[in-house]
Amino acid sequence: MSSAKVSLVVLGGGGDLTQRLLLPGLASLLSLHPRDVEIVGVSLEESNDAAWQRLVRDSFGKIDEEAQADRYVTTARWVTADVTDPGQLQAVIDSCSASPVLYFALPPAVTAKVCAALQQIKHPEQLRLALEKPFGTDTAGAERLNTLISQIVPERQVFRIDHFLGKSTVLNILGLRFSNALLNGVWTRDTVDRVEIVYDEALGLEGRAGYYDHAGALVDMLQSHLLQVLALLAMEPLPKLDEIELRSNAAQVLRNTRVWGGDPVTASRRARYTAGKIGERELPSYADSEGVDPANHTETLAEITVEVDTPRWRGVPFLLRSGKALGTARKEVAVILKSAEPIEGLAGAPTGDRIILDLKADEVTLELTMNGSGDPFALERSRLTVTKAPGDLLPYGQVLEGILDGDPMLSVRGDIAEECWRIVDPVLSAWRADDVPLEEYPAGSPGPESWRQDSERSAS
Ligand code: BG6
Repeated sequence: MSSAKVSLVVLGGGGDLTQRLLLPGLASLLSLHPRDVEIVGVSLEESNDAAWQRLVRDSFGKIDEEAQADRYVTTARWVTADVTDPGQLQAVIDSCSASPVLYFALPPAVTAKVCAALQQIKHPEQLRLALEKPFGTDTAGAERLNTLISQIVPERQVFRIDHFLGKSTVLNILGLRFSNALLNGVWTRDTVDRVEIVYDEALGLEGRAGYYDHAGALVDMLQSHLLQVLALLAMEPLPKLDEIELRSNAAQVLRNTRVWGGDPVTASRRARYTAGKIGERELPSYADSEGVDPANHTETLAEITVEVDTPRWRGVPFLLRSGKALGTARKEVAVILKSAEPIEGLAGAPTGDRIILDLKADEVTLELTMNGSGDPFALERSRLTVTKAPGDLLPYGQVLEGILDGDPMLSVRGDIAEECWRIVDPVLSAWRADDVPLEEYPAGSPGPESWRQDSERSAS
């Protein structure tokens, strides 16, 4: 690890992701852990130092840390360049005042072109590459990109971004699982009935059709974020927490994960929202939204059930689900335990107790069957909840800290990226072949009518 000076070169600096997530994350990091960073914005679009410096300053404003901005704003600079052109890319790298980190906030096709250009030019040995998702568009694409990247820098200098790995409640899975005997003991197929990893959002398309209409919920959320959460939930105990142990254990889980029963048709569901109202907000149907091609059949709600074929988990279904424009933003991991045996003399049947990590409210809840509050001989479900403060850093700040320190622990390793595609590729093929119907749900509803029964059952 090092915190030597770094030139953070944001390729795609004019984009929405840079403004919305990357720069505020960086500001949260630099405010708490100041370090020497030259922030360089690069894009084909014409802009200038002053406009870029304003963006950098505003990002400190967004997290109420304006006072910290000056040090970074004065050295921040903008370069208008086509970085798919080797000569222009060389000039960008040569202009860096410190060891460069190239941050690819670019679509996969452009990322591949920039990597091809990088192969043809000279770059410092310590060059680091940080790549936004999606990393490729299928297993073969991810493999090709990995091969290309491995010819440029060693894997330890590659940072595939997944900001869920920077969420403190997601990282809390490690402490919860491995640092207390209570949960450590129940975390196996003997006690766990099923696991649900759900990230339902109330937000709709938010003007991101250009990207989303080609990704859809499965690629946008499940292939990346939710499979990373699954890996943390299902991994074997860590002998110590470092990039090798954490990522090796995550890779082991994902290598042994496949769609339930090996059948993508029965193990997956998809749907798309129609017009509706979320709170006071009227949403047009997804198909009628600006920039959407309805013929793409892009799903805005995706669900798959997978199995982790290891001795610890064999036979336990893991349900992954995420969607947009839903009435309730349920964002949680629910570990549902097997029901205990009923005891004659205690009224009511014990139902599956649950351990819930609420990713929205940063809460951990144990829902346990115990004696009733009034009648001590009647069972009821009680909730024990603890609210954790959100982490000191924004998730992007947490991930960026690793990148600037040269520690890839919270970045996705190349083989892991490929495994995540291998798991979802059969589902993508089945959906493309229309073997799984594209259902509908009104924006603001809990999802398609036919799915509701199931979710109500699992919530009860
Ligand atoms: C992004 C997806 O990676 O994660 C978005 O592209 C999604 O579609 C977002 O809304 C969810 O993460 P968060 O942390 O913003 O809730």
